[in-house]
Amino acid sequence: MRLAVIPGDGIGVDVTAEALKVLRAVEEGFGRRFDIEMLPWSADHFLKTGETIPANGYAMLREFDAIFIGALGDPRVADNRHARDILLGTRFELDLYVNYRPVKLLHERLCPLKNRSIADVNFVVFRENTEGLYVGIGGRFKAGTVDEVAIQEEMNTYKGVHRIVKHAFDFAHSTGRTRVCMADKSNAMTDGHALWQRVFAELKSQYPQIEARHLYIDALALLMIQDPSQFDVIVTNNLFGDIITDLGAALQGGLGLAASGNLHPGRTSMFEPVHGSAPPLAGKNVANPMGAILSAALMLEYLGLAKEAAAIEAAVRGAVVAGQGTKEIGGALGTRETGDYIARTIQEL
Ligand SMILES: NC(=O)c1ccc[n+]([C@@H]2O[C@H](COP(=O)([O-])OP(=O)(O)OC[C@H]3O[C@@H](n4cnc5c(N)ncnc54)[C@H](O)[C@@H]3O)[C@@H](O)[C@H]2O)c1
Repeated sequence: MRLAVIPGDGIGVDVTAEALKVLRAVEEGFGRRFDIEMLPWSADHFLKTGETIPANGYAMLREFDAIFIGALGDPRVADNRHARDILLGTRFELDLYVNYRPVKLLHERLCPLKNRSIADVNFVVFRENTEGLYVGIGGRFKAGTVDEVAIQEEMNTYKGVHRIVKHAFDFAHSTGRTRVCMADKSNAMTDGHALWQRVFAELKSQYPQIEARHLYIDALALLMIQDPSQFDVIVTNNLFGDIITDLGAALQGGLGLAASGNLHPGRTSMFEPVHGSAPPLAGKNVANPMGAILSAALMLEYLGLAKEAAAIEAAVRGAVVAGQGTKEIGGALGTRETGDYIARTIQEL
């Protein structure tokens, strides 16, 4: 399988090295072969060459079976132009409309809520990934003056909303999950989110075996904390999904544990930890690589390697249960040692 790997910036580089170590362990343990091409696209590359992504960059990426990204963001690139081209650009150009973010607690010790078991925090968020407030439609008039007007438009299309909500129902149906919750803000955003209401009403009638529920996004945020066990599958727009998956990461024990996939089912898709480049932690051997390693597991699952993906997840869970991880989840290991421990466990498994 041909994989493109973009370590990116900051701790993206640190955690990607550990995800690759784990993929090597899978190669040895399962007799697989991953043909990995490292792509240097990052803030460093941009500052050296003036190039964010080559002119044929998106076409190049389409030729791979999957793409793995560490993280992008560097204070030296104030307008974050490289991240916009590499990360958001790939999401848009490859039409990766499903942002798939499982929220799964691996050990109750990690959950900030009182008296919650691992069964209580086990749901999936599907965030619309190609529309909403992230399409870059808008502008600034009289910028930098006291008369400045800043406009950023939210785009919702019938096709875009339909395909992500349908994906959520299909996922629930095919994985035996029984509840789908759609969250919007249709009480205040009465045009854009009326479209979400319309599509949800249309689709829910096609899945009578699934309990379909609607919540306003603010109520969803409250209930995710009060009782996360009531959720199986959540589907929402680009901005709300971005925010509530950080909340979900907190329920799992922190951003360092959260994994994600940017999917266009059936096509080249991209996998990345949910966290950013955390510049203050970069290069210090302190970042938790588990979110990146679990993202590699999501990538293998997507590529049809379910046993290999399950082995990675089991190895990460084993490390968490044994207290073998980085400081922010209560362990005493560095980034590299955590990766070593997980890679070794896979070989033993
Ligand atoms: N997908 C992405 O590439 C992505 C996502 C979010 C932010 N960013 C970018 O990253 C940069 C930093 O943003 P930020 O500080 O808001 O978010 P961040 O995710 O980098 O960090 C948020 C907090 O979580 C901690 N953290 C994050 N990942 C961790 C890990 N693996 N192990 C331990 N602790 C971890 C950080 O130390 C920090 O306290 C910005 O340039 C931002 O634009 C990129």
